[in-house]
Amino acid sequence: MAELSRFSVTVPEGILNKFDKYINDSGYPNRSKVIVDLIRDCLIKESWQDESEVAGTIVLVYDHHKRELDFKLTKIQHDYHKIIISTQHVHLDHDNCLEIIIVKGSANKIKELSGKIKAEKGIIHSSLMMTTTGQEN
Ligand code: NI
Repeated sequence: MAELSRFSVTVPEGILNKFDKYINDSGYPNRSKVIVDLIRDCLIKESWQDESEVAGTIVLVYDHHKRELDFKLTKIQHDYHKIIISTQHVHLDHDNCLEIIIVKGSANKIKELSGKIKAEKGIIHSSLMMTTTGQEN
């Protein structure tokens, strides 16, 4: 386990009261655990730059009846096959599909892939979830 450091934080009382209510409602054991998660979120966001090695998922929902959309999405994914670990496709209903694309590679390539998917006509929603490879804790 990593060595722990203690530090003090000064915050407005109203925010602290809301924060404690949040901790209580969300089931976190204490303030420290939440603070560590928030710091980690910050550092992960910061690490998603340029060529740094990162991991994440792209989730998209689209209507597969839209002209050539299936074909275009497959083509884009083949263009980025080196950073795509896995793709799962679920038929949500008669018209709509949900896809989860698991990615690992350089941050700029993954952002580029996510941008190309978002830009396709007929995408109802697409979101990139940025996380870490776990190598830098
Ligand atoms: Ni489908």
